[in-house]
Amino acid sequence: MKKPVSELTVPLAKAELEVLAGELLHHDEAYHGGDSPEVTDAQYDALRRRNLEIEQAFPDLVRDDSPSKRVGFEAMDKFEKHYHAVAMLSLDNAFSDQDVYDFAKRVRRFLKRSNEEVLRFTAEPKIDGLSLSLRYENGRMVSAATRGDGTSGENVTANARTITDIPSVLNGRDVPEILEVRGEVYMTHDAFVRLNERMETEGKSQYVNPRNTAAGSLRQLDSSITAQRPLRFFAYAWGEVNKLPAATQTGVIGKFKRWGFAVNPMTAAFDDVDDLIAHYHMIEEERADLDYDIDGVVYKVDELALQERLGFVSRSPRWAIAHKFPAEKAWTVLEAIEIQVGRTGALTPVARLHPVTVGGVVVTNATLHNEDYIAGLGNGGELLREGRDLREGDYVMLQRAGDVIPQILDVNLEKRSSTSKPFEFPTVCPVCSSKAVREFNEKSGKRDSVSRCTGGMFCSAQAVERLKHFVSRNAFDIDGLGSKQVEAFYNQGLISNAADIFTLRKRDEESETKIMNRDGWGVTSAGKLFDAIEERRAIDFYRFVFALGIRHVGEQTAKDLVRSYGDLPTFNAAMKKVADYQEEAWQELLAIDGIGETVGEALREFFSEAHNMEVYDALSLEVIPKPVEQVTGDSPVSGKTIVFTGSLEQMTREEAKAMAERLGAKVSGSVSKKTDLVVAGPGAGSKMKKAVELGIDTLDENGWFALIER
Ligand code: IVH
Repeated sequence: MKKPVSELTVPLAKAELEVLAGELLHHDEAYHGGDSPEVTDAQYDALRRRNLEIEQAFPDLVRDDSPSKRVGFEAMDKFEKHYHAVAMLSLDNAFSDQDVYDFAKRVRRFLKRSNEEVLRFTAEPKIDGLSLSLRYENGRMVSAATRGDGTSGENVTANARTITDIPSVLNGRDVPEILEVRGEVYMTHDAFVRLNERMETEGKSQYVNPRNTAAGSLRQLDSSITAQRPLRFFAYAWGEVNKLPAATQTGVIGKFKRWGFAVNPMTAAFDDVDDLIAHYHMIEEERADLDYDIDGVVYKVDELALQERLGFVSRSPRWAIAHKFPAEKAWTVLEAIEIQVGRTGALTPVARLHPVTVGGVVVTNATLHNEDYIAGLGNGGELLREGRDLREGDYVMLQRAGDVIPQILDVNLEKRSSTSKPFEFPTVCPVCSSKAVREFNEKSGKRDSVSRCTGGMFCSAQAVERLKHFVSRNAFDIDGLGSKQVEAFYNQGLISNAADIFTLRKRDEESETKIMNRDGWGVTSAGKLFDAIEERRAIDFYRFVFALGIRHVGEQTAKDLVRSYGDLPTFNAAMKKVADYQEEAWQELLAIDGIGETVGEALREFFSEAHNMEVYDALSLEVIPKPVEQVTGDSPVSGKTIVFTGSLEQMTREEAKAMAERLGAKVSGSVSKKTDLVVAGPGAGSKMKKAVELGIDTLDENGWFALIER
């Protein structure tokens, strides 16, 4: 048992801070380095808390290398930050053959290619390692960086130089002056086993799997340690290149090989989707005999000009997909079914499981979706346990697929206890006791599968979840105000809604029970919190809209909305009209690309609710959402509102929209006074007529291409 902080003397406190700094550094490295953590999260938190408490009691003793100066679970600043010239993206996943056919169909549709025209795809193993971007200038490697968040990663150049698969100089007269080669760093099973044996004889903790080991090894501060770890590298993609050496994926990868990179030997190209899938099964069979981990097969459109046209949707390319191998499975006991109440009042059942390792990860929770799912009535198709209900105490089979939340796939009825009873789904909210109802969905003519608490803002669970959403990473993202703090402040009556966050400092100044005197806080941390809040008063407009937590309004929808309305006053005015059932405003809302009736109704509902408006208006006085900046300032269509109509012949509607948006234009589905330009193909009807009536500029497809100079 440790001494209470109040009983520590200065020398004792100093000594303990030193020990804590060492211990926490060690654990941080084990955690971030990908090694197996040696302590549980709770033990780690306790160490951090103790460190903080002592520091708060003895502010003069805070060390320069204090763990409290490192941010929670974020990557430590031990490597230099490296900004990628071209973002490193991720891949969309396919889990079934059907998903692959759908992918190919989407690509064809986007490109306006009929089934008769040839469309070639490559297929190659998806390596389960970590991606690395290597930059070559005039054939010499100048930097190597991890993916990080895709925009910036860590500069691990010195370590990458120790990997023998990575050439430091490229041979060939056709090597572009600027070339970023991307690929996967991995460790072979053989090397992994040998390394772990060595760790064991040296009495060090062992690694969990080759992927974590590769990650940990690449991120060693001392590159001589990396050099002792046999890491490998496969090249499969690229970032910035001043001149591509070929017109196809296959061609570029061929060049990579010639220039000295290792490329995967199971890469092939096919014109037929069935052949892609056959190749997938071939690789799947090889998998067990491979000396490295793979978790699927990646398909890519071969022709680079087509890749270019297809572009990206949010963080992944439209021209590629990862066909994942079936997920790993394991049996365990379903210990309890708990009900969580979400931000929108949805009652979500969660399975508490006896801990079990599935695919290298310890799983303790699984989603149970909703009432019907537990009763065995739910979306049957994909579920093996169709028709069988789930009960507390059951033996269940879990599956974990990629990053997806674990699912329960099957239940063993033979092991079910004779005294077990079907789970009774609550009819009242477990938090506020308001009635919980399953709404009737007019459109589908069915009862909604989700049961919702009708308590609204009076339900503390909903209020807290809304606040958590408000401060979350993609919303206001306030340093020092995470889920835990928000929950604590809510429970202590300090904040009950989003606007309260911004009056916190003022109220604190006038209060006798100041935050700095509360558990876990001090002068410095409270000051920092207030500063962080101040800093977020000026906020990206889309973050503001997303933070409101309106049903169906995710980050993308928030972006669509702000791109269209531009600034807060315009948005406010429009939403108030929508809530007022003004037809013109409603039509204008639905004309925004990406906004359908579901979102429209959700907005109307939100902006009609008096309590929401109270908070919204109060919040609008506290923060300054920054008007949207145009994406491309110098394009001839930036800032313009464009409508595409008629049957386009050289591009699909989706492609046209993507193109216009890339150039900084807004694309709308209907013509109004606000439209700047109508691009019309043959057969354009009422929209074209309206454009002429309103005197709006019109162009045909060729005119469009001439305008944007393509
Ligand atoms: S292509 C623009 N090919 O998978 C997309 N990625 O889930 C470029 N990965 O971050 C990626 N093997 O780390 C590609 N043969 C392969 C891959 C591969 C593994 C990784 C890569 C990427 C992640 C996406």
